[in-house]
Amino acid sequence: MSKNILLLPGDGIGTEIMAEVEAIIAWMNAAGIADFATDKGLVGGAAYDAHKVSISEEDMAKATAADAILFGAVGGPKWADVPYEHRPEAGLLRLRKDLDLFANLRPAICYPALADASSLKREVVEGLDILIVRELTGGTYFGSPKEIVTLENGQKRAVDTQVYTTFEIERIVRVAFELARTRNNKVFSAEKHNVMRSGVLWKEVVTRVHAEEYADVGLEHILADNCAMQLVRRPKQFDVIVTDNLFGDILSDAAAMLTGSLGMLPSASLGAPDATTGSRKALYEPVHGSAPDITGKGVANPIAMIGSLAMALRYSFGMIEAAEKLDGAIATTLASGLRTGDIAARASPRSARRRWAPRCSRPSRRATPET
Ligand code: NAD
Ligand code: IPM
Ligand code: MN
Repeated sequence: MSKNILLLPGDGIGTEIMAEVEAIIAWMNAAGIADFATDKGLVGGAAYDAHKVSISEEDMAKATAADAILFGAVGGPKWADVPYEHRPEAGLLRLRKDLDLFANLRPAICYPALADASSLKREVVEGLDILIVRELTGGTYFGSPKEIVTLENGQKRAVDTQVYTTFEIERIVRVAFELARTRNNKVFSAEKHNVMRSGVLWKEVVTRVHAEEYADVGLEHILADNCAMQLVRRPKQFDVIVTDNLFGDILSDAAAMLTGSLGMLPSASLGAPDATTGSRKALYEPVHGSAPDITGKGVANPIAMIGSLAMALRYSFGMIEAAEKLDGAIATTLASGLRTGDIAARASPRSARRRWAPRCSRPSRRATPET
C-alpha cells in the first residue's frame, strides 16, 4: 500500500530544495524502490499570502493524516510586518506542537570530502559524527506568559518563559539514551543549572533516568555555554548531546559549521510511537532557514533536505537500505567534487570558488541513489 508524504516547501530556498527531493521521490517510485503518494501544502509566508495564516486548517488536517511530512523552510523579509501570531515561523511551531513532535534529531556528520570545507581545521572536524537531540515542544518557545506589556512609565516589558516538566525531560532524555546505545554509547546533557531552575530540574531528571534505566550508557553533564565552546574546540569528544529547545537550536547551528555548512544538516522531528501500531507522527526538516540572501539564485545546497528524506526513509518507513543508499549517494556526490558554493573547499577559497561556481546549480540530480 502506498504511503502518504505531505510536502510543505514553504518559502525562499524551501521551494528550491524541495524540488530536488521531489525528483528523488519520483525516481524511487519509478524504480520500484518505493510507493509514495505525495500531496502538497502551504506553510509560512506562502500560506500567509494565500490564506492570511501561517498554515491553514486544511493543511494542518493533511499534516495530521500524513505518514510523514517533508518541510522545506519558512520566513523572509517579505513578511517582516505581518502580525506576530501569523508570522511564517508560527506555522512550523504549530506543526511541531500540535503533532507533539517533541524529539528533534540533528545529526552533524563531516563527510570525508568536506574536511576542508569547515571554517575549522581539518584535524578538528575530520570523521566527526555527532547527534544533537533537541527537545522541540517545550521550553522558552512555548512557555507562558509570552508577551510584551506596556508599563505605566511608558516602558515596555517583554517576557518569554522557560518551562519544563519532569515528563518532558524524561521522554527526551530516553530518546537520547536509546540512540546513544546504537552509536558510541555516550550522552552529554547540556543545560544551565547554575542559573536556571529548569536547568536544575533537567539535571536532576537526567541523573535519575540514567541511574534507573541507562546505567550502561556514559553520561556527562555540561553547562550549555561550555558545550558551545567545546563544540568548536574539540567536537569529536561528543557522541550524543541532549538539550532543551533553545540551547538545541543554537548548538545545532554551531555544529552545522563543523560539517562545512548549515546547508548540510538534516533533521527529524518525531512524536512518540503509537502504543498499538508503533507508528509515529514525524516531520523532516533541514536545520537551516529560507536563506533570503541566496533565494532564486539556484545555488542553495539541497543536501540538508535530501538528508532529511533519508531520515524519513529510516524513521518513518523502515527503509534502512534505501536510506543508507541515499546517504551514500550524498557522500559519493561530494567525493566526486560536485558541490554548491557554501561547501566549496576553503583551503584556497578563491580558486575553489572559480572551479565550482559554474556547476553550483542543481547538484542533487547526481545524488539520486544507485540501484
Ligand atoms: P538561514 O538558515 O536562512 O541562513 C543563514 C545563512 O546560511 C545564510 O547566509 C544562508 O544563505 C546560508 N544557508 C542556509 N541554508 C543554506 C543552504 N541550503 N545552502 C546554502 N546556504 C545556506 O537563517 P537566517 O538568515 O537567520 O533566517 C532567514 C529566515 O529563515 C528567517 O525568517 C528565519 O526565521 C527563518 N528560519 C527558518 C527555519 C525553518 O524554516 N526551519 C530555520 C531557520 C531560520
Ligand atoms: C530551526 C529554526 C526554527 C527554530 C524557527 C524557524 C522557528 O531556527 O528549526 O532551527 O527556532 O526552532
Ligand atoms: Mn534554528
